[in-house]
Amino acid sequence: MQENQLLERIAQTLSRANIANNKRLVRHKSAAELAEILNLEQKSEQNWEQLFAWVEQYLEYSPNTAHANFANRMWSGANLPSQLGEVVAAISNTSACTFESAPIATLMETYMLEQMLEIAGFENGEGQMTTGSSNANMIAMMVARNQAAKSAKQQGLFQQKPLFAFVSSEAHYSLDKAANILGIGTENLIKINTLENGSIDVKLLQKEIKKVEKNGGIAFFVCATLGTTVRGAYDNIEDLARLRNQHNFWLHGDGAWGGALIMNEKLKAKFLSGMEKLDSFTMDFHKMLGTNLMCNFLLLRQKNLLSCTCADGDNSYIFRQKQMDLGISSLQCGRRVDSLKWFLDWKFYGKSGFSQRVENYYQLAVFAADFINENKALEMVSERISLNLCFVFKAANPNEFNQKLRDTLLENEQALLALAYVGEALVFRLLIANVKLNEAKLVALLNGLIATGKQLQKYA
Ligand SMILES: Cc1ncc(COP(=O)(O)O)c(C=O)c1O
Repeated sequence: MQENQLLERIAQTLSRANIANNKRLVRHKSAAELAEILNLEQKSEQNWEQLFAWVEQYLEYSPNTAHANFANRMWSGANLPSQLGEVVAAISNTSACTFESAPIATLMETYMLEQMLEIAGFENGEGQMTTGSSNANMIAMMVARNQAAKSAKQQGLFQQKPLFAFVSSEAHYSLDKAANILGIGTENLIKINTLENGSIDVKLLQKEIKKVEKNGGIAFFVCATLGTTVRGAYDNIEDLARLRNQHNFWLHGDGAWGGALIMNEKLKAKFLSGMEKLDSFTMDFHKMLGTNLMCNFLLLRQKNLLSCTCADGDNSYIFRQKQMDLGISSLQCGRRVDSLKWFLDWKFYGKSGFSQRVENYYQLAVFAADFINENKALEMVSERISLNLCFVFKAANPNEFNQKLRDTLLENEQALLALAYVGEALVFRLLIANVKLNEAKLVALLNGLIATGKQLQKYA
């Protein structure tokens, strides 16, 4: 097949699949059934027809993440401008490590990071795109580690006083991974209990920091979670910044999910007040804001720390224009071009478009919480804090029942919802992050869940 024929065929396949408008949520099959349908062992050398057959199957059996009843993750579907950027990035296939190999992507990434620095209030900062917030959290911890232990980069941690990092007990597991990777040790990542509203107990945190310091350790890093994964809680940045001034740790903000509220001045003031005092901040544009996966950035309030922390090795063969080569301060060598789709989304919607989007999501979350609270079959397990709704269908053995209900909704191809634990309770974790969602669709989704729950109870 010629290249131009291939592109035409791709376009036809996609338009037939009409992914975004596809009415069906999912064709549910077990792994064994899918393996049989796919026949992955089949030979297909030079056989384009077979390749396209697999592509058709891929499209047929993958969940339609743009569907309003796909509420399984922190994202759904993808913005159309970013889809354009993603396709072009795939076809032009270059690496955003050097200016020479990706001149336009370099300028776009630099421009976008400047936009984000301004919104975050980091007047003299720097940033980079990374592969996601797990990675960004780790890089932030690495910068903090190398500031606290100045010879860590060259000599490792062998001669160092023990280092301790702190997060709330509701923080994301990527911080455990970071502590593992960076030689801090997961036991030296201290998890601090949260208050009723899910935010870190700052008094308790100070007590633990003092304990570490008294025993000769260094409290080098505190991560404020800005939108926890399950309950959507925000740690109090102002209180943490005051504590940082006393104990001199690095204060990082993990806004992977909830950081998107910086786009809206009212919500930023409500949930992210004082964020310009953070030492670093990350958020995923691919979550609430809908850019194609992956699209993440990490910002630092101060310049020149990323390059001295991350740059390494013999650069003789690669970096020729050091001022412009973004790969120098990245932990990767090859870097996928994630900036094009990000830039196109930004230009198409603008800050005002994203502001409106998060405001709509917030209003929908308020509406959904009221609906759940008013419905006798359902119960909120944790009061709504921001955009996350944690609720159960009331039943005798609630954990077992809600697991069954969730599985039945999927088997019926009705809804693909997420479950999570709040304490001991297994709850539906509904996140509002779908541009297709509106009050009517939310009501339909929840009424469908209630009807299926009642039916399950009837036949139990
Ligand atoms: C609070 C929080 N931090 C970090 C992450 C990890 O983000 P990523 O999937 O981009 O690695 C998540 C993902 O769900 C999250 O909820």
